[in-house]
Amino acid sequence: MLRSRPIHLAGPENFELQRCPVPDLEDGEALVRIEMAALSAWQGMRTKDFRNFIRPFDIGELIGCDTFARVVESRCEALPVGAAVVGRQGWQDYAAVRPEEVSLASGDYTAEEWLTALSSPGQTPYLAFSQKVRPMPGETLVVTSAAGAVGSYAVQLGRLAGARVVGIAGGPEKSAFVRDRLGADAAVDYRSDAFADALAAACPDGVDLYFDTVGGPVADAVSENLAKRADILLVGRVAANNSVEPERDMANLRHVWSQEATIHAFNRYAYKDLYPQVIERLGALLRAGSLTMHNQVVDGMEQTPAALHDVLTGNHIGKMLVRYSESGADRL
Ligand SMILES: NC(=O)c1ccc[n+]([C@@H]2O[C@H](COP(=O)([O-])OP(=O)(O)OC[C@H]3O[C@@H](n4cnc5c(N)ncnc54)[C@H](OP(=O)(O)O)[C@@H]3O)[C@@H](O)[C@H]2O)c1
Repeated sequence: MLRSRPIHLAGPENFELQRCPVPDLEDGEALVRIEMAALSAWQGMRTKDFRNFIRPFDIGELIGCDTFARVVESRCEALPVGAAVVGRQGWQDYAAVRPEEVSLASGDYTAEEWLTALSSPGQTPYLAFSQKVRPMPGETLVVTSAAGAVGSYAVQLGRLAGARVVGIAGGPEKSAFVRDRLGADAAVDYRSDAFADALAAACPDGVDLYFDTVGGPVADAVSENLAKRADILLVGRVAANNSVEPERDMANLRHVWSQEATIHAFNRYAYKDLYPQVIERLGALLRAGSLTMHNQVVDGMEQTPAALHDVLTGNHIGKMLVRYSESGADRL
């Protein structure tokens, strides 16, 4: 649970582990045992007291996050014992759920696949590209936090669409990962002193599409390289959310104006109706080997706050997952 609000980045000191009884079931409910939890930058954002597309967590509130769980007891026909479900049950071992709070995790996919390629990390760029701006063959697509959960799929999906992809990430190790493992045409380290020159060199014809997950100074640097009538997908604001001054963000709109660029704000939750077909499509890409998962899995509920801190500081590659129990290991 959230114990206190961080000034900068959420870490173990801001959370508290509480023991409480496993809930009793009412008619229409099922008890699920959570097997895996997915950690994301937005959970860090919600520990702070400012409003984005979703309200902050309250002090004392359970931290919500996407989970993969299994039904261990049921008073609900739609959720039989043994069924696997995905939902937003958060940082806890057990939860009483109603059918409308979860989706059956049907099909032959693993917990990791359900929480990454088929969930927010894969769905976000898939929907942004299919519903807002499609990367076009030969055009230059720039992706920020490219070694992270969402960014790693944005790079891969951009490549599949035929775009020339330039990934931006923090540090040489992540840059190598973006280029060598994700297949980006170029990778640029935004923490390097040579960032501005390296970015310009990687985008000789300008940036046609910018998949912006961080904002701040990195976005300013990208804006200096925009091609004429470029498109900007505003997907996230990690730099501002992590900052002690969250209201300060991208300052330089001069190049956006002079290049007649278009900014498209994107929110995945606006496309809930499309989730089933997007899952089907992403599943097909996974099965065909066209998309690969890159996850970091840590074990144990107690590790969750430190693992979230790693996500916020960038001390991870791909998606950060925490295993709470082995599949089917626990039966009441
Ligand atoms: N719009 C939507 O529907 C939607 C859906 C899902 C996620 N999102 C957004 O997508 C973004 C990425 O989420 P995620 O879960 O995939 O997180 P993530 O990329 O796995 O983790 C965040 C990364 O941001 C980078 N970062 C941190 N501070 C930075 C700074 N000041 N400047 C530049 N980069 C910084 C770090 O990577 P480095 O080590 O490379 O710096 C860190 O690993 C978040 O903003 C999230 O809110 C939006």
